Amino acid sequence: MNADEELLSAAQKARENAYAPYSRFRVGAALRGKSGRIFAGCNVENASFGAALCAERSAVGAAVAAGEREFESIAIVGGSAPTLPCGICRQVLQEFSPEIAVICRGRDGGIVRYPLKELLPHAFADFSNEQ
Ligand code: THU
Repeated sequence: MNADEELLSAAQKARENAYAPYSRFRVGAALRGKSGRIFAGCNVENASFGAALCAERSAVGAAVAAGEREFESIAIVGGSAPTLPCGICRQVLQEFSPEIAVICRGRDGGIVRYPLKELLPHAFADFSNEQ
């Protein structure tokens, strides 16, 4: 199995633990850290809908908590259509690894890779308190 297939299969496995009783849309994500370690996440919904956590940010939380902050790629598995990260998750990924590749499975079963820079061009990254 190649590295991208391995990451997709970690995302698929995490998807099985998704907590999505409201949308019924289960998502799994797996991040490959620069160290080679893999961190998985799933979406975690809430009765207060706005409190839902996406799979991608759940994976980022697991990685950062384990001391990994630089990522090579992230694989995402949702429904049958290719699942790409929402805008908030794109911004969170950009914070740690602007060069990260986003991997998903295309409709034809092939692997699709997008540089995050293509999904979130001209990102907000500089914070200063100038008045
Ligand atoms: N969701 C993710 O976990 N990742 C995505 O990339 C898109 C959306 C979740 C949030 C919510 O639990 C459900 O999918 C429906 O939006």
